[in-house]
Amino acid sequence: MPESLSQPPALSLIDRFGRRLNYLRISLTDACNLRCIYCMPEQMTFMPRSHLMTDAELFTVVRVLVDLGVDKIRLTGGEPTVRPQLVEIVRRLAALPGVRDLSMTTNGLLLPQLAEPLARAGLDRINISIDTLDPAKFKRITRWGKLDTVWAGLEAAEAAGLRPLKINAVVTRDFNDDEVVDLARLTLQREWHIRFIELMPFGSEADFAQSAVVSSTETRQRIEAALGPLQPVPGHDLHDPARPYRLAGAQGQIGFISTITEPFCAGCNRLRLTADGKLRLCLLRDGEFDILTPLRQGVDSATLRQRIHAAAYHKPWGHGLPSGDIPQLRLMSQIGG
Ligand code: 5AD
Ligand code: SF4
Repeated sequence: MPESLSQPPALSLIDRFGRRLNYLRISLTDACNLRCIYCMPEQMTFMPRSHLMTDAELFTVVRVLVDLGVDKIRLTGGEPTVRPQLVEIVRRLAALPGVRDLSMTTNGLLLPQLAEPLARAGLDRINISIDTLDPAKFKRITRWGKLDTVWAGLEAAEAAGLRPLKINAVVTRDFNDDEVVDLARLTLQREWHIRFIELMPFGSEADFAQSAVVSSTETRQRIEAALGPLQPVPGHDLHDPARPYRLAGAQGQIGFISTITEPFCAGCNRLRLTADGKLRLCLLRDGEFDILTPLRQGVDSATLRQRIHAAAYHKPWGHGLPSGDIPQLRLMSQIGG
């Protein structure tokens, strides 16, 4: 049967605004081997192991979600590569019928050894966070990170065929706002996609984020002043928050994720599953739906399915940052972006 005529799943996740939720972001752990200044305090306490979903619990939930029409999955953290058995988890996710796109967002530190096994296990694509090309600034932003290692990870990902390779750069005032031109210049020679992200406020780190946010408009102006006009790239996925642009003659692309100045809630098709088994319906709203507790109490898959379907229906329309509604329950590292 041609794809356009194939049947939608019998029961799919559609919210009350008609958005179909087919994109699941799974946070595999809240732990991380870095301490980026905008993400978490240096003395961060992570959740005890017993609060995290086991692999078996994770797969019970994911199978229900895939059965409800989720066909695109991204693994996040904290830092997903520090989760034990990651390669095996990827292998099992990639083998689930219905999953057509499996990707991961990582800080890249462990990719020198993991890129190849992950690609062989069925990972399709990868996003790596790199906010600057200056090793001293990289250390200042990540507190513990070595740019050399991340760069080796990036090259390992490319060699392993994890393409298109995307680089996430959070733009932070006085830390890397002067680095955006060098980052954008990478696209001239490489087929990479560089995405500049506006800083978002969470809990104890919200004051810093709000004082250091740099708008996408400003970032774009800096890039265009130095490197010339950005041309829109046709054929963009309307669910992707970053509309793609290209510098004249460039191999790669540039995008801007403007959560603060230009929210993209109308096209949001995302659901998030936290490492401790909560379904989070909006990155920037605290409302969550507990899945792990009923699962541990022995609820069956059919009931779980009905409850998830009902929860998804109530996905909030959009975030409340303009009216001062800042998420307090979790930091970014406990959601996964
Ligand atoms: N605002 C915006 N982006 C953030 N990230 C981490 N914390 C924040 C924040 N407060 C980014 C990381 C990574 C992705 C998962 O989210 O740099 O690229
Ligand atoms: Fe770790 Fe990513 Fe947070 Fe940096 S932004 S501390 S790499 S989870």
